[in-house]
Amino acid sequence: MSTTTLPGSPPIRRTRLSDEALAARAAYILRGNDLGSMTTAAPRLYPHMWSWDAAFIAVGIARLNAERAITELETLLNAQWSTGMIPHIVFSDQEASYFPGPQRWGCGTLAAAAPQSPATSGICQPPVHAIAVKRILETTQRRGRTERRAANEFLERAWSPLMRWHRWLAEMRDPDRTGRVTVHHGWESGMDNSPRWDGPYSRVKVSEELPPYRRVDTTVVGDCSTRPSNREYDRYLWLIEEMRRVGYDDTQIRLTSSFAVEDVLMSAILALACDALADLGETVPHRSQDVRDLRAWAAHFRAGVAESVDPQTGLARDRDVRADEWLSSPTIAGFAPLLCGGLDRTAELRLTELLDSPQWCGHPDLVAAVPPSTAVGSPQFRQREYWRGPQWPVMAWLFSWSFAERGWPERAAFLREEGLKLIGDGTFAEYYDPLTGEPLGSANQSWTAAAALDWLC
Ligand code: SER
Repeated sequence: MSTTTLPGSPPIRRTRLSDEALAARAAYILRGNDLGSMTTAAPRLYPHMWSWDAAFIAVGIARLNAERAITELETLLNAQWSTGMIPHIVFSDQEASYFPGPQRWGCGTLAAAAPQSPATSGICQPPVHAIAVKRILETTQRRGRTERRAANEFLERAWSPLMRWHRWLAEMRDPDRTGRVTVHHGWESGMDNSPRWDGPYSRVKVSEELPPYRRVDTTVVGDCSTRPSNREYDRYLWLIEEMRRVGYDDTQIRLTSSFAVEDVLMSAILALACDALADLGETVPHRSQDVRDLRAWAAHFRAGVAESVDPQTGLARDRDVRADEWLSSPTIAGFAPLLCGGLDRTAELRLTELLDSPQWCGHPDLVAAVPPSTAVGSPQFRQREYWRGPQWPVMAWLFSWSFAERGWPERAAFLREEGLKLIGDGTFAEYYDPLTGEPLGSANQSWTAAAALDWLC
């Protein structure tokens, strides 16, 4: 039993399960969220497949059953658009309560590039999929021949869809060749209401023509104040309306969307994912041209991330294309260069020191030393509000994985230990109050359970 007592904060008592019990509970949750060929991101709040969730979930499931992990990714890849985009939601036909659902998106009728089945949303999410494939292949190398062969055969099938996905991001979403991926909705970043997007969203004017809607998420989560506000939601829905009106056509969206922001974290993830896929293709002679393309994209986006660094703070920045300005909110995305590399030695040392400092992971009041979504103590910090402050265990997993890739095993191990401290009570929440450790958002969140499994098994 551990106790956290802070001035002004009630002590939160949380029982730390044994590693065996925690892993068993994580497996139980993933099985409970399994609909057969997709795992819901969370049982009630997110009852469908989300793109980046599915990748992290597959990494966890691979620890239990590689073939089921492969099925997860195949379900996602089967929903790929003809443009190459992997949509951010693949809708299950077993569940109708989520909003905005397939009818509100209208992709099946409005978007020429969308598949007729399954129903999907019309935007994307960060491209962590090749990272998941690499991790799953590593996991299966330690298993029996059958699982190894299944994973290798999957890589054959997944190669071309993943290449098309990366190419679409590199070409369609970097029109000015800045080395930074442009997003047209905060949901594409996965960090819906992060302070990163406050400036760009403040410039999104919601028209009276926005069709009426009723939120469902706030009826599922007990404390609505931990979710985005209604004002934010209006803007989210208006951006979808804009895309519907141009039939989700990439070129039209680029020209007409009120929201166009170069996302530095997504760009770092693309660089990482390109290298991960290139690593997997390197030994196969007929993939040498693809591998060259992947390495070139990785270098290009790594450079774009490095170029975004604020000389004053040392943090990487997003850039609002519409307003032509850098965005400097102190969020977890500022550490993007630590994921993908590309900084010179001095700048990288400065950024690692900042990550360890009392402004970030070294803050004395943190329950666990993993990066909060927004700097504790900054004016933008809200300790319970979704991406405005809480810690997200899956982000700790991503940083831990990439630190290991970068040859920093001690940093990777530290984040793993601290991440397990956060989720050790077995709630597997979506996110956590960094100052009290209170589990927030949805309980039984699949990607949180998946992170635990990969760390523990
Ligand atoms: N994260 C969004 C939601 O809250 C959609 O991707 O539903």
